[in-house]
Amino acid sequence: MRPFCYKTVYAKKKTRLCRVGFYMEKLIVRPCGALRGRVGIGGSKNAALPILAATLLCEGPSLIGNLPAIRDVELALAILSGMGVAVTRVDRATYELNTNHAFPPAQPDPLTGRMRASAYLLGACLGRFGVGRVGCIGGCDFGGRPIDQHIKAFVALGATVSVEDEAICVRADHLHGAAITFDTVSVGATVNAMLAAVRAEGETVLRNVAREPHIVDLAAYLNRCGADIRGAGTATIRIRGVKTLRGCSYSVIPDMIEAGTYLLAAAATQGAVTVMGVDPTHLSPLTDVLRKMGADVDCEERRISLFATARLRGSTITTAPFPGFPTDLQPPMAALFSVSLGESRVCETIWRHRFRYVEELQKMGADIRLQGDGACIQGGQLHGAELCVPDLRAGAALLIAACAAEGESVLHSPSYIERGYEDLLLKLRALGADISAV
Ligand code: EPU
Repeated sequence: MRPFCYKTVYAKKKTRLCRVGFYMEKLIVRPCGALRGRVGIGGSKNAALPILAATLLCEGPSLIGNLPAIRDVELALAILSGMGVAVTRVDRATYELNTNHAFPPAQPDPLTGRMRASAYLLGACLGRFGVGRVGCIGGCDFGGRPIDQHIKAFVALGATVSVEDEAICVRADHLHGAAITFDTVSVGATVNAMLAAVRAEGETVLRNVAREPHIVDLAAYLNRCGADIRGAGTATIRIRGVKTLRGCSYSVIPDMIEAGTYLLAAAATQGAVTVMGVDPTHLSPLTDVLRKMGADVDCEERRISLFATARLRGSTITTAPFPGFPTDLQPPMAALFSVSLGESRVCETIWRHRFRYVEELQKMGADIRLQGDGACIQGGQLHGAELCVPDLRAGAALLIAACAAEGESVLHSPSYIERGYEDLLLKLRALGADISAV
């Protein structure tokens, strides 16, 4: 197959931004009954984005496989391409990234304002060039999304951090190892500290770090490139800095949030769905709750099957860093609670304002009361409504609710969902959903 050059395609389609996907104006969802069938799960968004940033630290090409065909990956490739990285598509999910001629941006790329993971360029650029700049970091709006812990790590490693012309700038003549204890468990700060420390001189010890599977995946990629990182997946990570890293071939882990979303859609429609190509250990916080609610959940080596022959019982979830219940599945879980039997409770400990979907579910007749950092949900029957998608996972929640509701729903601004779900319409339709895009 003739490889295609990402840069050229991106330049030709500047107005559309993305090679895959398209901007949808609205989605029309009609009742479909039980969702049934098998669905293949793509690569993890939240693992792919740090790994793409990490390629900047390596000499020679990296071949990154199982990249999900989603908007955020497209943005990451476009931003890297703008920094001189030669990005070549090898096949649908595999890209070669050669960073030999990469350079630090003189001005922050405006595209960095479109996603949260742009922050990873700070750590990666520090490690590679000793200087990095990003604009106003984007991403879903959950109220404030501070980066004080990222800054704490950069400063401890010997960098200075400043805000210049609305850009965040990091600089270091010399990065050195440090002992850093994070005040709060943060995925992003853990990633950025790892990226900056991996080529720093000496040993870095990171305590109270995130333990998510995507942190383990980033460490695995960097170690394959020649880094010396131990303890990823536990609360303490030890990194011995190395002088050089060499690109390698690596395949990103499956997306546990995508898989969880389809399991929740199956549960809400009293269906039977098998998610294929997943790691069930990543999803045990979800599958434990689904079993308690009365679903029949069967985990095998690379797949999870869920059968729900009746409405499930309500339950309680409290979100927490891994291995707790993932905050990214909180909105889709609330959609399931809205059609379950009896009362359910949601306690959100990570993004206190991640409840913008509630108003939309209420338009469908959901009985939800917000209380402090949580919500109390009385299950019942939902009806179709005109809905506005406020963010990525809220969009997934509204889709699940619309599939389970009586009557037609229209979802406006659904392109948020393309940021994180690959082939969403195709996959949902294959399971029996009646859904069309305008
Ligand atoms: N926090 C701080 N200071 C910091 C960083 C974080 O106080 O410097 C706080 C946040 O306010 C929040 C908590 O720590 O209360 C956790 O934030 P974290 O840094 O872990 O979140 P993030 O790195 O910005 C990633 C995912 C999110 C996911 C969270 C939590 C990516 C690109 N984003 O965000 O994913 O919700 O971890 O697991 O990996 C999504 O995929 O829809 C999504 C929002």
